[in-house]
Amino acid sequence: MKTNENSWVLITGASSGFGEEFARQYAAQGKSLVLVARRLDKLEALSKELRERFGTEVINEQVDLSSIPAVIELHKRLVQQGIAVDVLINNAGHGLQGPFLDHAIDQSLAMIDLDIASLTTMTRLFAQDMRIRRRGHILQIASLLSYQGVKNFAVYSAAKAYVLRFSEALHQELKGDGVIVTALCPGMSDTGFAQSANQTLTPALKMVMMQPEPVVRAGIRALQAGRMSVVPGFGNKALTALTWATPRRFHQRLMANVMGA
Ligand SMILES: NC(=O)c1ccc[n+]([C@@H]2O[C@H](COP(=O)([O-])OP(=O)(O)OC[C@H]3O[C@@H](n4cnc5c(N)ncnc54)[C@H](OP(=O)(O)O)[C@@H]3O)[C@@H](O)[C@H]2O)c1
Repeated sequence: MKTNENSWVLITGASSGFGEEFARQYAAQGKSLVLVARRLDKLEALSKELRERFGTEVINEQVDLSSIPAVIELHKRLVQQGIAVDVLINNAGHGLQGPFLDHAIDQSLAMIDLDIASLTTMTRLFAQDMRIRRRGHILQIASLLSYQGVKNFAVYSAAKAYVLRFSEALHQELKGDGVIVTALCPGMSDTGFAQSANQTLTPALKMVMMQPEPVVRAGIRALQAGRMSVVPGFGNKALTALTWATPRRFHQRLMANVMGA
Protein backbone atom coordinates (compact mmCIF):
# COMPACT_ATOMS: atom_id res chain seq x y z
CA MET A 1 0.00 0.00 0.00
CA LYS A 2 3.05 2.32 -0.03
CA THR A 3 2.96 5.41 -2.28
CA ASN A 4 6.13 6.50 -4.08
CA GLU A 5 5.41 10.22 -4.32
CA ASN A 6 7.34 12.57 -2.06
CA SER A 7 4.48 13.33 0.31
CA TRP A 8 4.82 12.76 4.04
CA VAL A 9 2.68 12.89 7.15
CA LEU A 10 4.53 14.25 10.20
CA ILE A 11 3.05 13.26 13.56
CA THR A 12 4.33 14.77 16.82
CA GLY A 13 3.87 12.78 20.02
CA ALA A 14 3.74 9.53 18.03
CA SER A 15 5.13 7.35 20.83
CA SER A 16 1.76 6.84 22.56
CA GLY A 17 -1.95 7.67 22.68
CA PHE A 18 -3.48 9.64 19.83
CA GLY A 19 -0.13 10.05 18.05
CA GLU A 20 0.39 6.31 17.84
CA GLU A 21 -3.16 5.89 16.53
CA PHE A 22 -2.66 8.65 13.92
CA ALA A 23 0.41 6.73 12.73
CA ARG A 24 -1.61 3.50 12.41
CA GLN A 25 -4.50 5.12 10.53
CA TYR A 26 -2.27 7.05 8.11
CA ALA A 27 -0.11 3.95 7.54
CA ALA A 28 -3.28 2.04 6.66
CA GLN A 29 -3.96 4.77 4.04
CA GLY A 30 -0.53 4.05 2.50
CA LYS A 31 1.09 7.31 3.66
CA SER A 32 4.81 7.75 4.41
CA LEU A 33 5.42 8.91 7.97
CA VAL A 34 7.76 11.06 10.03
CA LEU A 35 7.25 10.13 13.69
CA VAL A 36 8.45 12.53 16.39
CA ALA A 37 8.72 12.09 20.18
CA ARG A 38 11.36 11.78 22.91
CA ARG A 39 11.07 8.00 23.51
CA LEU A 40 12.95 6.49 20.59
CA ASP A 41 12.38 2.87 21.69
CA LYS A 42 8.60 3.39 21.40
CA LEU A 43 8.93 5.01 17.96
CA GLU A 44 11.15 2.15 16.77
CA ALA A 45 8.72 -0.52 17.95
CA LEU A 46 5.82 1.27 16.24
CA SER A 47 7.66 1.85 12.96
CA LYS A 48 8.76 -1.80 12.85
CA GLU A 49 5.12 -2.85 13.21
CA LEU A 50 3.95 -0.40 10.51
CA ARG A 51 6.66 -1.45 8.05
CA GLU A 52 5.73 -5.11 8.52
CA ARG A 53 1.94 -4.62 8.36
CA PHE A 54 1.62 -1.95 5.68
CA GLY A 55 5.06 -1.60 4.03
CA THR A 56 5.09 1.97 5.37
CA GLU A 57 8.09 4.21 4.79
CA VAL A 58 8.90 5.66 8.25
CA ILE A 59 11.46 8.14 9.58
CA ASN A 60 11.84 8.29 13.36
CA GLU A 61 12.91 11.59 14.91
CA GLN A 62 13.84 11.69 18.58
CA VAL A 63 13.22 15.33 19.50
CA ASP A 64 12.31 17.19 22.68
CA LEU A 65 9.80 19.55 21.12
CA SER A 66 9.76 21.86 24.13
CA SER A 67 13.08 23.18 22.82
CA ILE A 68 12.47 25.67 20.00
CA PRO A 69 16.04 25.32 18.60
CA ALA A 70 15.39 21.56 18.40
CA VAL A 71 12.16 22.21 16.47
CA ILE A 72 14.00 24.46 14.03
CA GLU A 73 16.73 21.80 13.60
CA LEU A 74 14.10 19.12 12.93
CA HIS A 75 12.58 21.21 10.15
CA LYS A 76 16.02 21.93 8.68
CA ARG A 77 16.99 18.23 8.72
CA LEU A 78 13.82 17.23 6.87
CA VAL A 79 14.19 19.98 4.28
CA GLN A 80 17.82 18.90 3.67
CA GLN A 81 16.59 15.33 3.06
CA GLY A 82 14.04 16.63 0.55
CA ILE A 83 11.09 15.45 2.67
CA ALA A 84 7.86 17.26 1.71
CA VAL A 85 5.52 17.31 4.71
CA ASP A 86 2.02 17.62 3.26
CA VAL A 87 0.19 16.68 6.46
CA LEU A 88 1.29 17.97 9.87
CA ILE A 89 -0.35 16.53 12.97
CA ASN A 90 0.56 18.83 15.87
CA ASN A 91 -0.37 16.35 18.58
CA ALA A 92 2.39 16.35 21.23
CA GLY A 93 1.07 17.99 24.36
CA HIS A 94 1.19 17.83 28.09
CA GLY A 95 -1.40 18.59 30.79
CA LEU A 96 -1.25 19.14 34.53
CA GLN A 97 -4.07 19.01 37.07
CA GLY A 98 -3.98 20.93 40.34
CA PRO A 99 -4.14 24.43 41.81
CA PHE A 100 -1.96 26.84 39.84
CA LEU A 101 -0.16 28.05 42.97
CA ASP A 102 0.74 24.48 44.02
CA HIS A 103 2.83 23.92 40.88
CA ALA A 104 6.35 25.22 40.43
CA ILE A 105 6.37 27.94 37.78
CA ASP A 106 8.74 25.77 35.72
CA GLN A 107 6.00 23.13 35.37
CA SER A 108 3.56 25.72 34.02
CA LEU A 109 6.12 27.24 31.69
CA ALA A 110 7.12 23.80 30.36
CA MET A 111 3.48 23.25 29.41
CA ILE A 112 3.38 26.61 27.61
CA ASP A 113 6.64 25.77 25.80
CA LEU A 114 5.26 22.51 24.42
CA ASP A 115 1.54 23.21 24.03
CA ILE A 116 1.89 26.76 22.64
CA ALA A 117 5.40 27.82 21.61
CA SER A 118 6.44 24.57 19.97
CA LEU A 119 3.11 24.08 18.19
CA THR A 120 3.26 27.66 16.90
CA THR A 121 6.82 27.20 15.62
CA MET A 122 6.04 23.85 13.94
CA THR A 123 3.03 25.47 12.26
CA ARG A 124 5.05 28.48 11.08
CA LEU A 125 7.87 26.40 9.61
CA PHE A 126 5.83 23.72 7.86
CA ALA A 127 2.90 25.95 6.77
CA GLN A 128 5.38 28.20 5.00
CA ASP A 129 6.61 25.25 2.89
CA MET A 130 3.02 24.13 2.26
CA ARG A 131 2.04 27.59 1.05
CA ILE A 132 4.89 27.56 -1.46
CA ARG A 133 3.70 24.15 -2.78
CA ARG A 134 0.07 25.39 -2.53
CA ARG A 135 -0.97 22.18 -0.79
CA GLY A 136 -1.06 21.02 2.81
CA HIS A 137 -3.11 19.96 5.81
CA ILE A 138 -2.44 20.81 9.45
CA LEU A 139 -4.35 19.23 12.33
CA GLN A 140 -3.92 20.93 15.71
CA ILE A 141 -4.85 18.89 18.75
CA ALA A 142 -6.77 21.21 21.07
CA SER A 143 -9.21 19.95 23.72
CA LEU A 144 -12.74 20.16 25.05
CA LEU A 145 -11.14 22.40 27.69
CA SER A 146 -10.35 24.92 24.90
CA TYR A 147 -13.90 26.19 25.30
CA GLN A 148 -13.61 27.46 28.88
CA GLY A 149 -11.21 28.17 31.74
CA VAL A 150 -11.41 25.16 34.06
CA LYS A 151 -10.49 25.28 37.74
CA ASN A 152 -7.32 23.30 38.50
CA PHE A 153 -6.48 23.19 34.79
CA ALA A 154 -5.75 26.93 34.51
CA VAL A 155 -2.63 26.83 32.33
CA TYR A 156 -3.68 23.75 30.34
CA SER A 157 -7.17 25.04 29.48
CA ALA A 158 -5.70 28.45 28.57
CA ALA A 159 -3.05 26.79 26.39
CA LYS A 160 -5.68 24.72 24.58
CA ALA A 161 -7.89 27.82 24.12
CA TYR A 162 -4.88 29.34 22.35
CA VAL A 163 -4.57 26.27 20.11
CA LEU A 164 -8.23 26.48 19.10
CA ARG A 165 -8.27 30.26 18.45
CA PHE A 166 -4.91 30.15 16.64
CA SER A 167 -6.19 27.35 14.41
CA GLU A 168 -9.51 29.09 13.66
CA ALA A 169 -7.69 32.24 12.57
CA LEU A 170 -5.13 30.32 10.47
CA HIS A 171 -7.92 28.30 8.86
CA GLN A 172 -9.23 31.59 7.43
CA GLU A 173 -5.78 33.00 6.61
CA LEU A 174 -4.42 30.00 4.72
CA LYS A 175 -7.39 28.43 2.96
CA GLY A 176 -6.87 30.67 -0.10
CA ASP A 177 -3.30 29.31 -0.31
CA GLY A 178 -4.34 25.67 -0.52
CA VAL A 179 -3.47 24.95 3.14
CA ILE A 180 -6.17 23.53 5.41
CA VAL A 181 -5.90 24.08 9.19
CA THR A 182 -8.29 22.14 11.44
CA ALA A 183 -8.55 21.91 15.23
CA LEU A 184 -9.49 18.59 16.86
CA CYS A 185 -11.01 19.06 20.34
CA PRO A 186 -11.15 15.70 22.13
CA GLY A 187 -12.69 15.12 25.54
CA MET A 188 -11.30 12.62 28.03
CA SER A 189 -9.75 9.73 26.13
CA ASP A 190 -8.00 6.54 27.08
CA THR A 191 -4.34 7.44 26.42
CA GLY A 192 -1.25 8.07 28.58
CA PHE A 193 -2.50 11.64 29.15
CA ALA A 194 -4.30 11.24 32.50
CA GLN A 195 -1.30 9.59 34.07
CA SER A 196 1.24 12.14 32.89
CA ALA A 197 -1.10 15.01 33.89
CA ASN A 198 -1.53 13.54 37.42
CA GLN A 199 -5.22 13.53 36.66
CA THR A 200 -7.86 11.89 38.85
CA LEU A 201 -10.40 9.93 36.82
CA THR A 202 -13.89 10.72 38.19
CA PRO A 203 -16.83 8.35 37.50
CA ALA A 204 -18.24 11.00 35.12
CA LEU A 205 -14.97 11.07 33.18
CA LYS A 206 -14.86 7.29 32.98
CA MET A 207 -18.39 7.38 31.54
CA VAL A 208 -17.56 9.82 28.71
CA MET A 209 -14.04 8.46 28.09
CA MET A 210 -13.41 7.65 24.41
CA GLN A 211 -10.91 5.29 22.83
CA PRO A 212 -8.23 6.92 20.64
CA GLU A 213 -9.41 5.16 17.47
CA PRO A 214 -12.73 7.05 16.89
CA VAL A 215 -11.19 10.34 18.07
CA VAL A 216 -8.38 10.08 15.53
CA ARG A 217 -10.77 8.93 12.79
CA ALA A 218 -12.94 12.02 13.42
CA GLY A 219 -9.86 14.26 13.25
CA ILE A 220 -8.59 12.82 9.98
CA ARG A 221 -12.05 12.98 8.44
CA ALA A 222 -12.55 16.64 9.46
CA LEU A 223 -9.10 17.54 8.12
CA GLN A 224 -9.75 15.82 4.81
CA ALA A 225 -13.14 17.56 4.58
CA GLY A 226 -11.47 20.96 5.16
CA ARG A 227 -13.40 21.75 8.36
CA MET A 228 -12.30 24.46 10.79
CA SER A 229 -12.73 22.34 13.92
CA VAL A 230 -14.30 19.17 15.22
CA VAL A 231 -15.41 17.84 18.61
CA PRO A 232 -15.47 14.02 18.51
CA GLY A 233 -18.20 12.01 20.25
CA PHE A 234 -21.81 12.75 21.15
CA GLY A 235 -21.17 13.37 24.88
CA ASN A 236 -18.36 15.83 24.12
CA LYS A 237 -20.50 17.65 21.54
CA ALA A 238 -23.27 17.97 24.15
CA LEU A 239 -20.82 19.41 26.72
CA THR A 240 -19.59 21.94 24.13
CA ALA A 241 -23.15 22.93 23.26
CA LEU A 242 -23.72 23.70 26.97
CA THR A 243 -20.99 26.36 26.84
CA TRP A 244 -23.12 28.27 24.31
CA ALA A 245 -26.49 27.47 25.82
CA THR A 246 -25.92 28.09 29.55
CA PRO A 247 -24.50 30.88 31.76
CA ARG A 248 -20.74 30.67 32.25
CA ARG A 249 -21.05 30.06 36.00
CA PHE A 250 -23.16 26.96 35.34
CA HIS A 251 -21.00 25.30 32.70
CA GLN A 252 -17.73 26.18 34.44
CA ARG A 253 -18.95 24.44 37.60
CA LEU A 254 -20.25 21.49 35.61
CA MET A 255 -16.94 21.03 33.77
CA ALA A 256 -14.94 21.41 37.01
CA ASN A 257 -17.09 18.62 38.54
CA VAL A 258 -16.68 16.40 35.49
CA MET A 259 -12.91 16.94 35.58
CA GLY A 260 -12.75 16.23 39.34
CA ALA A 261 -11.34 19.72 40.00
N1 LIG B 1 -6.22 11.99 26.24
C1 LIG B 1 -7.03 12.98 26.52
O1 LIG B 1 -7.94 12.87 27.35
C2 LIG B 1 -6.90 14.30 25.78
C3 LIG B 1 -8.00 15.14 25.70
C4 LIG B 1 -7.89 16.34 25.00
C5 LIG B 1 -6.70 16.66 24.38
N2 LIG B 1 -5.64 15.82 24.47
C6 LIG B 1 -4.40 16.20 23.77
O2 LIG B 1 -4.02 15.14 22.91
C7 LIG B 1 -2.64 15.24 22.63
C8 LIG B 1 -1.98 13.88 22.72
O3 LIG B 1 -2.05 13.40 24.04
P1 LIG B 1 -2.43 11.91 24.40
O4 LIG B 1 -3.77 11.96 25.03
O5 LIG B 1 -2.22 11.01 23.26
O6 LIG B 1 -1.40 11.65 25.59
P2 LIG B 1 -0.12 10.73 25.69
O7 LIG B 1 -0.48 9.31 25.45
O8 LIG B 1 0.50 11.10 27.00
O9 LIG B 1 0.82 11.23 24.50
C9 LIG B 1 1.54 12.42 24.54
C10 LIG B 1 2.58 12.38 23.45
O10 LIG B 1 3.29 13.62 23.45
C11 LIG B 1 4.69 13.33 23.42
N3 LIG B 1 5.43 14.40 24.11
C12 LIG B 1 5.21 14.89 25.35
N4 LIG B 1 6.15 15.81 25.65
C13 LIG B 1 6.96 15.90 24.56
C14 LIG B 1 8.11 16.65 24.25
N5 LIG B 1 8.62 17.54 25.12
N6 LIG B 1 8.71 16.48 23.04
C15 LIG B 1 8.22 15.58 22.15
N7 LIG B 1 7.13 14.85 22.38
C16 LIG B 1 6.51 14.99 23.57
C17 LIG B 1 4.84 12.01 24.17
O11 LIG B 1 6.02 11.35 23.73
P3 LIG B 1 7.37 11.19 24.58
O12 LIG B 1 7.01 11.12 26.02
O13 LIG B 1 7.97 9.93 24.02
O14 LIG B 1 8.16 12.41 24.22
C18 LIG B 1 3.60 11.27 23.68
O15 LIG B 1 3.88 10.62 22.47
C19 LIG B 1 -2.08 16.27 23.62
O16 LIG B 1 -1.91 17.51 22.93
C20 LIG B 1 -3.20 16.40 24.65
O17 LIG B 1 -3.20 17.68 25.26
C21 LIG B 1 -5.70 14.63 25.16
